[in-house]
Amino acid sequence: MMTGDGADPTRTPTESIDPPSWFRERAAVSDPGIYETFDREWPDCWARAADLLDWETEYETAFRGGDAPPFEWFPGGELNASVNCLDRHLPERKNQRALVWEGQLDERRSYTYLELSREVNALAAGLRDLGIDEGDVVTLYLPMVPELPATMLACARLGAVHNVVFAGFSADALAERMERADSEFLLTCDGYYRRGDAIAQKNKADNARLAVDRDVDVVVLDHLGEGVHLGEGYHDYGALVKDHEGEEVDPVPRAASDPLFRIYTSGTTGEPRGVTHTTGGYLAHVAWTAQSVLDIRPEDTHWCAADIGWITGHSYVVYGPLALGATTVLSAGTADHPERDRLWKLIDRHAVDVFYTAPTAIRAFMKWGAEHPERHDLSSLRLLGTVGEPIDQRAWHWYREHIGGGDCPVVDTWWQTETGAILVSTLPGVDAMKPGSAGKPLPGIETEVVGPTGDPVATGERGELVVTRPWPGMPVALAEGTGWGEHAVSERHGWRYHPEDAATVDDDGYVTFLGRADEAVNVAGRRFSTMELESAIVGVPGVAEAAVVGADHETTGTAIYAYVAPEHGVDEADLRERVRGAVEDAVGAVAVPEAIVFTPDLPKTRSGKIMRRLLEDVANRESLGDTSALRNPEIVGELQSRTPDED
Ligand code: WTA
Repeated sequence: MMTGDGADPTRTPTESIDPPSWFRERAAVSDPGIYETFDREWPDCWARAADLLDWETEYETAFRGGDAPPFEWFPGGELNASVNCLDRHLPERKNQRALVWEGQLDERRSYTYLELSREVNALAAGLRDLGIDEGDVVTLYLPMVPELPATMLACARLGAVHNVVFAGFSADALAERMERADSEFLLTCDGYYRRGDAIAQKNKADNARLAVDRDVDVVVLDHLGEGVHLGEGYHDYGALVKDHEGEEVDPVPRAASDPLFRIYTSGTTGEPRGVTHTTGGYLAHVAWTAQSVLDIRPEDTHWCAADIGWITGHSYVVYGPLALGATTVLSAGTADHPERDRLWKLIDRHAVDVFYTAPTAIRAFMKWGAEHPERHDLSSLRLLGTVGEPIDQRAWHWYREHIGGGDCPVVDTWWQTETGAILVSTLPGVDAMKPGSAGKPLPGIETEVVGPTGDPVATGERGELVVTRPWPGMPVALAEGTGWGEHAVSERHGWRYHPEDAATVDDDGYVTFLGRADEAVNVAGRRFSTMELESAIVGVPGVAEAAVVGADHETTGTAIYAYVAPEHGVDEADLRERVRGAVEDAVGAVAVPEAIVFTPDLPKTRSGKIMRRLLEDVANRESLGDTSALRNPEIVGELQSRTPDED
């Protein structure tokens, strides 16, 4: 973007849509005064989140801390996360489904709260027998199976710290995360199905175990039911649960600031960053946002389509919905297998109330066409959410129209692995939605959009978002002031956390995210955000997805290469012209891509993020590094052959 040029037309929200009255009237949070109340009562306002939980020992005060770390949330308080997600719901809803699982081969399983609680207790007893104790780090390397949340909760019951590693990661990635976390216990399975193919999981776990520099006990779930060979140091999940059937394990009370879990983030570049979340602050923040933003209530069926291997799955597949006593949907496999209407079929089948997914998925649905959702009854839906990247206005409208029946509120929720839970979003029962903009910081959350000097930028100008007050879901490193905080405390500005996201803010305080602050291309001395260009391009009818990268260029330093996945049947020559025109209109002729490369698909990581680093290498005709993290490695050759040689 051009510095100082003010608002970017592709990103500035142009509409404001009030939440429908039928929603507002029933919303969990509908009092517009909530912002003011939280502000006036900060930090005590956060008791409202903590009081959604059951505490073994009541906390003394909501927050203890000064202007700089250490910060402590709910000091003196003790609780157990598995009690909050299971035991306390039993008196009222033991026969209600806690989770519904849909396998990739059309298998189905569900657990009532009573059944899940029994599984978790038996498993906790078994894990305790293996020597797992309070504070131990237990690595979970499982795909989307019900035993994954069960194991997370069993660890929580024992006060052990789970360390979920995404099932699609390699043996090396697993070993590295076990080493870094000092983990001596591993839970995995034989294999699982993805797009109809059986994937061997245990082999990878075996290799990781060999690579780890210590004795590791491994528990293996026989998910495929074909029998598993167990060598020394290996234990059978099924036998473990069976041997302890009916046993109850006393939940270990944990201090509010004790770790609940560790998760590693980033992965496309650099070293994995270990993020540790707390038992009390995290759970309170997650439960509160699941209620106030996602509007989840106990009688709801909630479907967050993220994999539990990522933070979104931790917070809004497992802990948020279960803390509130709702039914959570767990779906294995992919959205387009066996058919492209799989998700809509499941929403119909389970009468899902709240659906939460990522913009990249929505753009894929757009590409596949509205006829797929149209075949199903989606009228059970009350609220839609998105997370993970900026959503362009076209995708936002498509989502609301074709999935939400034109009437469901859509919340665009901004947060990160490091924040633990949502920090910026509209409150759907209170605020107007502005498609393309995430919304205001939530009540009790304070952010600023600042320029290079650290001072706030003018309305509509690009800057970087900083969080200027602590929040309950903050990770241990930030609360203790031991990590990612070199630049967090300054004399002039006080404490702040830098998420490294570029943003603008408008007159109503709505924040529009522009992508990672570090994703910029410099063309002829002018800086453009790849995300901004992408948003102009995906706004063109006929474009399904686009990714913009910088390629080295003799004269301009960098040239812009746009990789564009068109919708089916679109005339490419015509589309090329319209893409050029759209960029010219939105940003200026100087930003018109040097090359517009059409491709059937973009390279994606397994979590669905576009792998820009790889596109950059392709654009630069460099040798490609490791492509094993790709979900669709077959696209690489296609991209290389279509990329023009630099003239
Ligand atoms: C991006 C996922 C725009 C952002 C929960 C952030 C978003 C990174 C949004 C974190 C949103 C997440 N609008 N950008 N609504 N939500 N992001 O750690 O760049 O996997 O820093 O956490 O995703 O990704 P992470």
